[in-house]
Amino acid sequence: MCGIVGYIGKQDAYPILIKGLQRLEYRGYDSAGITLFDESIRTYKVKGKVSDLEDFVKESNRSGSIGMGHTRWATHGEPNDVNAHPHESQNGKFVIIHNGIIENYSSLKKQLTNYGYEFKSETDTEVLVNLIEYLYLDSKLTVEEAVRNALQIVSGAYALVVMSKDEDDKLIAARKGSPMVIGIGEGEYFIASDASPIIEHTRSVIYMNDNDIATISKHGLSLKTLGNDVVAPKIHELDLEIGAIEKAGFDHFMLKEIFEQPETIVNTLRGRVSSDWKDVHHGGVMSVLPQLVNARRLIIVGCGTSWHAGLVGEYLLEEFARIPVEVEYGSEFRYRQPILYPDDIVIAISQSGETADTLAAVRLAKESRALVLGICNVVGSSIARETHAGIYTYAGPEIGVASTKAFTSQVTALTSFALMLGKERGTLSQERLETMISELMRIPEKITAVLNQNDHCKYISDLYKDAENFLYLGRGYLFPVALEGALKLKEISYIHAEGYPAAEMKHGPIALIDEKMPVVVIATKDRSYEKIVSNIQEVKARKGIVIAIVSEGDTVIKEMADHVIEIPHVEEAVSPILSVVPLQLLSYYIAVARGCNVDQPRNLAKSVTVE
Ligand code: AGP
Ligand code: GLU
Repeated sequence: MCGIVGYIGKQDAYPILIKGLQRLEYRGYDSAGITLFDESIRTYKVKGKVSDLEDFVKESNRSGSIGMGHTRWATHGEPNDVNAHPHESQNGKFVIIHNGIIENYSSLKKQLTNYGYEFKSETDTEVLVNLIEYLYLDSKLTVEEAVRNALQIVSGAYALVVMSKDEDDKLIAARKGSPMVIGIGEGEYFIASDASPIIEHTRSVIYMNDNDIATISKHGLSLKTLGNDVVAPKIHELDLEIGAIEKAGFDHFMLKEIFEQPETIVNTLRGRVSSDWKDVHHGGVMSVLPQLVNARRLIIVGCGTSWHAGLVGEYLLEEFARIPVEVEYGSEFRYRQPILYPDDIVIAISQSGETADTLAAVRLAKESRALVLGICNVVGSSIARETHAGIYTYAGPEIGVASTKAFTSQVTALTSFALMLGKERGTLSQERLETMISELMRIPEKITAVLNQNDHCKYISDLYKDAENFLYLGRGYLFPVALEGALKLKEISYIHAEGYPAAEMKHGPIALIDEKMPVVVIATKDRSYEKIVSNIQEVKARKGIVIAIVSEGDTVIKEMADHVIEIPHVEEAVSPILSVVPLQLLSYYIAVARGCNVDQPRNLAKSVTVE
């Protein structure tokens, strides 16, 4: 969950670490800390953001060409200075930064207390660093051996970096269940939880695998497994532009990412739709096409926004490919003893490719010998690597915690995938395929038309920024969009919001409606148009405030709604990609008007790598 960055080389570590932490701050922002080494090991840490850390160390000695930094997303112990990372062991031999959870920390803490250890913080991390020190001193091990032995004792998930006073010319990095990338420069190495702090220094990277331990000095790197077997490092070339991780003149990453969508959708479709718009194929799943064509059931797993994309995927795959689909939360799937047959196909959807619950579902499905596909945005991420085949969404780095362009790219990938499967299975006519491809290819220009209504969305947002509740309604393909709109608002503005299938409103939520309740209705012209018009009437009859997303030129709803946002006409099956855009803008501007920190909403982190 948190951000980890490390440097060892010939440059000053401090500016590299701070810049790296700024890039990683979207992953956690409860506290920030660094450890630097030249003649001595010095640790500085403070509750709050990376900027608070910078203020804090202004007058201090910041020299050293070895160091590491951390931004925390608290799991054990509240966000404060003491619980902030790095954590030092009791006798000062070791310092650690850690991402994840040590699940057996409580019993280990008891044992270490019996051996005379006292704990300053409430974190599980401090238990681990003391365990390493205890093993090191007690069994006279090398630093690497002590870390390895400790990691064999702990259970849970981690990505970590350890520095030691006794072998102060190296950094030790390890991972299990949390991502870690090592950048290789000339006589220098960079370590980080994702590639964003690394790209401005080098393009050569190693993605660590679970149970890998890397021992890194200025002169070289050795990679081993937890079992002490040597691993040959695989060096990859990073394909990422620096501009992709900067704000490019926008006030927030979220707004930049909303506005990038015409381009990101093109990127998702690039190379997948033939130049005559008559065919679509996904190279990444061609190796398993026969199994896909004969599939009896598809199970989609994901969390949050990715789960919403999965719900749209269910509608798409059932309509076009006529394969039964189930959509599951990663977290529920793994713990409810699901029935999985070897001929089931599981599709994991994840922007980051690192979400712990989704990754665990992938592993469970693989154990049941099901074919597992991934739909991921981050290239080289754990889910992308652990699945048998898959589709990258190519939306570029998404930094804003609230997912926007990743969602529309996921739905675009699912749409083109469903069309491909429909064609291969013979459940979709060539004529319909071509209509749908052309609808899909025209989405980017239509999104641009929606983005042109930015000011109108802002105007409506300012009117309702003080509302305490919001309801979002949609039917069919637009029901998952209602859920997504509500999630966006909750996440960044802290307004309570619920998404419902419009027809379900009368089975309960209608009781909430009064003159203070804004109801966002996605009411574009499709099969359920007449029905949703009736739902709007029901809201108006109870004095609710209706903000309707309608098809261009709609005059009927204009008469009854308090506000309308018009969007270009599209086929129902691609309407989620378009209709979610005004909802993203509404939540963005409401959050801004309320003075919320849009890119870093409270309590959240971009990628949830803990259970
Ligand atoms: C979306 O706005 C959220 N921040 C969150 O629900 C997110 O979609 C979820 O945690 C899944 O992340 P993933 O796509 O990286 O797996
Ligand atoms: N479990 C650790 C803590 O609460 C690490 C959390 C993180 O990943 O930031 O401090």
